[in-house]
Amino acid sequence: MKQSEEHLPLKEDQAPVKEGRAPLREDQAPLQEDQAPLKEDRANLEEDRAPLKELDEWDDFVAIRYRQGKSEEEFRNYKADANPTVTEFYRQNHKHQTLDFVLKKKAEYCGLKRGQKSIWEMAEYLNTLGFLHDLGKVLCLYGEPQWAVVGDTFPAGCAYSEQVVFPEFFAANPDSGKPEYQTQYGIYEPNCGLDNVHLSFGHDEYIHRVTQKYLPEEAQYMLRYHSFYAAHRHGAYRHLMNEHDEAMFEWVRKFNPYDLYSKGRERPNTKEILPYYRELVSESFPDKIDW
Ligand SMILES: [Fe+2]
Repeated sequence: MKQSEEHLPLKEDQAPVKEGRAPLREDQAPLQEDQAPLKEDRANLEEDRAPLKELDEWDDFVAIRYRQGKSEEEFRNYKADANPTVTEFYRQNHKHQTLDFVLKKKAEYCGLKRGQKSIWEMAEYLNTLGFLHDLGKVLCLYGEPQWAVVGDTFPAGCAYSEQVVFPEFFAANPDSGKPEYQTQYGIYEPNCGLDNVHLSFGHDEYIHRVTQKYLPEEAQYMLRYHSFYAAHRHGAYRHLMNEHDEAMFEWVRKFNPYDLYSKGRERPNTKEILPYYRELVSESFPDKIDW
């Protein structure tokens, strides 16, 4: 489904603004034409790169979207649960996550060249207790915009599924104009296996790469695909998955309720639970790992 710009619920200049942060518009940009930044950077200047008040706002939206006991009909009405900042976040995410962007970010981060840190040092850096699957959100502290860190993931380089949340926002993605990326299989082979598919870039892929060599495969799948809701909740993209993916997705689905419903607003008593998690982490990981 394609939708033209005027049907989008938020226009560029209506983007929600955070207190004290005026949005930069093109006509306010102080740069001369010959000093103009790259096209991509200009796009970032025109937008608030952090429409969500905090990253957790996306997690909260997903938890509400899949609240237990909802009917299929209610799942489809997710727009009722999306406030303007969440909607703006998805608009940016779907617009900017091109195949080119995904490949660039994988090259930048997945070689794990940012030094060694323990899981706990990283958790402290992120200022969270640090449930492993979400430690990839440290990408935000590396300077990535929110749309490159969280959000439902989807394959780049092939047709977008209607099962992805806010599919109409893909109309603004440059890949939508590339016919070779818009066939059912795009750049991929039938049932090629998800390991060969480039999902939109975010904290899932990064934490998967960081932890890959220390965890059993079931856990790797949980980390790598926990935000791939179109596939694990709605059965989309089966034509790219192989039998092994199908079997392993059982674990992704088992993990999902812990991801969705374990993030209460009350802070856990860190002192009480930390020894348990320290023990758990030390069973699988050496003191320092590459990030
Ligand atoms: Fe996550």
